[in-house]
Amino acid sequence: MRQAETPEKTGLGDALCKLDQLFKVTGQDLREIAGRFHQAMLDGLAGAIGPLKMLPSFISTPSGLEKGRFFAVDFGGTNVRILLVELLGNGRSSILKRKSMPLKDPAASYDFTQATATGSELFDLLAGQIKGLAVPGEVCALGHTFSFPSRSYDINKAVLINWTKEIKTGQVEGRDINQLLAEALRRQGLPGVIPAAVINDTVGTLLAAAYSDPGADIGSICGTGHNTCYLEPRPACGRGPVIINLESGNFNLLSFNVYDQLLDQASEKPGEQRLEKMVSGRYLGELTRLVVSNLARQGLLLRGSMTDPDGLLHRPYSIDTELVALALSDDSPGIARLGGWLAENLGVKEPLPGELAAIRHIAGLVASRSARLIAATYLGILRHLDPALRDRHTIAVDGSLYEKMPGFERNIRSALDEVLAEGGNRVALKLTKEGSGIGAAIAAAIASKQQID
Ligand code: BGC
Repeated sequence: MRQAETPEKTGLGDALCKLDQLFKVTGQDLREIAGRFHQAMLDGLAGAIGPLKMLPSFISTPSGLEKGRFFAVDFGGTNVRILLVELLGNGRSSILKRKSMPLKDPAASYDFTQATATGSELFDLLAGQIKGLAVPGEVCALGHTFSFPSRSYDINKAVLINWTKEIKTGQVEGRDINQLLAEALRRQGLPGVIPAAVINDTVGTLLAAAYSDPGADIGSICGTGHNTCYLEPRPACGRGPVIINLESGNFNLLSFNVYDQLLDQASEKPGEQRLEKMVSGRYLGELTRLVVSNLARQGLLLRGSMTDPDGLLHRPYSIDTELVALALSDDSPGIARLGGWLAENLGVKEPLPGELAAIRHIAGLVASRSARLIAATYLGILRHLDPALRDRHTIAVDGSLYEKMPGFERNIRSALDEVLAEGGNRVALKLTKEGSGIGAAIAAAIASKQQID
């Protein structure tokens, strides 16, 4: 049995205080980041090359009256979902059928996310799943939520600029993704399923919220990846309001600490998606692991409980974001659930309660920094849309981090209120579940109507 040691005795207390400073985002930081983010938006809108791509989506918000049945493809990460959605008007919708599949399955020994797989193979897999839900001969428009940086040329034409979230499938970057899907649908004998719209998942989330709430003008994803879009009232093209996908995960006018640098350097694309690497579900577990592993190597944490000093704890991505959520929600005596997870998954034997508390503290620092940085970007967008906050705004948010990470929404809310004070009352945060799927159906409805008009 290991003897309990106080953090002070082991130097762990000092190390935790240093980490508090490293991961802190003060009220002043929030304001400064919001200001830099706003400037980067203006630069991007003016066409300057910078961190924010500001991609116009060729679509505005819905009237709420859109009706009909549509297929929706939600391609957001390593899981793809296919839905058949009925839009009922008056902001109501229902999901009639659904199917989801992983793009990689070690058990079935396939992986469509690696460079060894091609775009055609990937989209054949997707079209095969759609076939499973389609009625033979049926004509049905399809909305496609494709959650990667893509440049739209029309409502149904978007070219993938680059993969994110560590996906590397070959022969998709630079290609029109809806065309890849349309060709795969034809190969499956589904000429009646027509890819009518392709949108980003942030856009889908905003469309889904705006279907029933005209005040919704910002859509955001806090999940495996991170990004935000907003309704630009005065686009440069001079036409009516248009939704702009910021690709805000690529924002980089931030201070990075040593753990951010380590994570970025070891990532698939160093230098890219710097905000996303500090805030999104793909990376929060790894950031936590980097800190814990470093303290363990210095002998400040898990002394005596690591059976193998080169064990799993030191292996990249051996901790995922679910562990961060578990650490933050574990109220069992002695933080035993967290201890059990570490023993079972990383071979960490009998960690002391003080060490588990330290790991929970680290997880809390990483998660709350994420929420506050995201809030700072929302503040930047609000500054652009309505600096005096005269109107009401709804920020529609979807994603597992926002939904499931303990305290995440509360931390975003309190950061917004810290800066907006009274004005915070006019800004609502709204969890918009299934936003990508319902939003894709709404986009297909809007596109089909545009074709009729
Ligand atoms: C992608 C965005 C997407 C976000 C959330 C990011 O990695 O670049 O296009 O909206 O993830 O899924």
